[in-house]
Amino acid sequence: MTTMQEPMGPLGTPIEVPAAPVPAVLPAAAAPARRDREPYLRVTWTDPVTGARGHLVVHTLRSGIATGGTRMRAGCTLSEVEDLARGMAAKTAAFDLPVGGAKGGIDFDPKDPRAVGVLERFCEAMRPWIDAHWVTAEDLGVPQHLIDEVFARIGLGQSYHAAISRSADPAATLARVRQGLDARVPGGLLGDVIGGYGVAHACLGAASAFGWAVAGTTVAIQGIGTMGGGAAWYLHEAGMRVVAMADAAGTLYDPAGLDVPALLELRDGFGEIDRTRLPAGVAQLPRSAVVGLPADVFVPAAISYAITPDNSYDVAARVVVEAANAATTPEAEAMLAARGVPVVPDFVANAGAAAWAWWLLLGRVGMSRDDAVTAEESFTMLRTQMADKVRLLLDRWVADGVPPRLTGLGLAVSDLDDTAARSALVIP
Ligand SMILES: NC(=O)c1ccc[n+]([C@@H]2O[C@H](COP(=O)([O-])OP(=O)(O)OC[C@H]3O[C@@H](n4cnc5c(N)ncnc54)[C@H](O)[C@@H]3O)[C@@H](O)[C@H]2O)c1
Repeated sequence: MTTMQEPMGPLGTPIEVPAAPVPAVLPAAAAPARRDREPYLRVTWTDPVTGARGHLVVHTLRSGIATGGTRMRAGCTLSEVEDLARGMAAKTAAFDLPVGGAKGGIDFDPKDPRAVGVLERFCEAMRPWIDAHWVTAEDLGVPQHLIDEVFARIGLGQSYHAAISRSADPAATLARVRQGLDARVPGGLLGDVIGGYGVAHACLGAASAFGWAVAGTTVAIQGIGTMGGGAAWYLHEAGMRVVAMADAAGTLYDPAGLDVPALLELRDGFGEIDRTRLPAGVAQLPRSAVVGLPADVFVPAAISYAITPDNSYDVAARVVVEAANAATTPEAEAMLAARGVPVVPDFVANAGAAAWAWWLLLGRVGMSRDDAVTAEESFTMLRTQMADKVRLLLDRWVADGVPPRLTGLGLAVSDLDDTAARSALVIP
């Protein structure tokens, strides 16, 4: 394989980026098996005011709790929410969290002025679940501050309510959780950027596994909201060259490297960049262009099903790191594998947000109540766990051609088979 864009060093000298190691035997073009079984529960709700449909799918309950965010987008379907809930179950299992997986999804445009009302009525309708069994959080189209505001308005405090209410001192636990979420770190608030930090370290782990120098490695990112924006920030900070960033309005491209902090400053509340204030030298391309631009790493960080058989041959990257949930369809993933392009799966690459929320709830981070200490222990724990998992996945890919998703599901498999609580859930 060749690099399509020759990377340049700071003084304009080319940097050697070795070709990505391709397994001696490429996997057959069969979809990597995704473990399947009936979800524990599916609920569909119709908003009496707008007619919008909303869904909750609980894939697995463990310790009586399932965890997973709530998304809002026009066109969101029950089967999409079911895929996402299954992914959450794999995520909690792979990161050894003592809870099951779930997801909420509402078929409505988050930019519609009625969207907050729809979200509030959805949460009210799901009250028995969010009161006791479903810990939800932000997701596509629903920022954390918004879902927290809605929970507060309906008298449930914060979106982790079902877990917090199990604590011996819920008021103290709520204060600890809020402090952790709001701790100031480079790039924003810890609760907003931690998921993207994990994605950035999945990308850095891939570069390390393939022997690529960070400064010589290029990355293209689709979606620059909570996840993509955080990933872009920390990749830029680490010295990787972010050459393309796309939002819902289009793709911004500069092969010399985008000024990530400057562009992130130009975002609105929906993760879209103000095109009237773009720095010089940034090319504006169609939204779909980001998939095929020359970059070593492609990070889909927006919609589900971003890579399908229709565009999988357009992917120019040498590795795909999924920040978005269900970003690659099974068929597209098999086509990429047959071309020697591994996919670091969503339930590992983007698990930082969910894993960290539970580390905070379980008291594995944040007990000091000191922002700097919380930030340091959170970053260290996530960086270490992500590096270990990505290394394991890509070493098996290089050595035996095993798709990373299969290896990852192997990490999760024993826990997925155990729907009963194996460890008591204790919220300090
Ligand atoms: N927020 C989290 O904590 C979290 C955690 C794990 C996984 N995820 C997943 O990450 C993905 C993004 O979630 P988020 O919370 O960052 O969303 P967000 O709403 O904060 O940002 C979405 C971004 O994607 C862009 N976008 C939307 N449609 C696009 C398209 N067709 N092409 C290019 N860009 C497009 C938007 O303009 C915005 O920049 C979702 O798949 C979500 O499930 C989110």
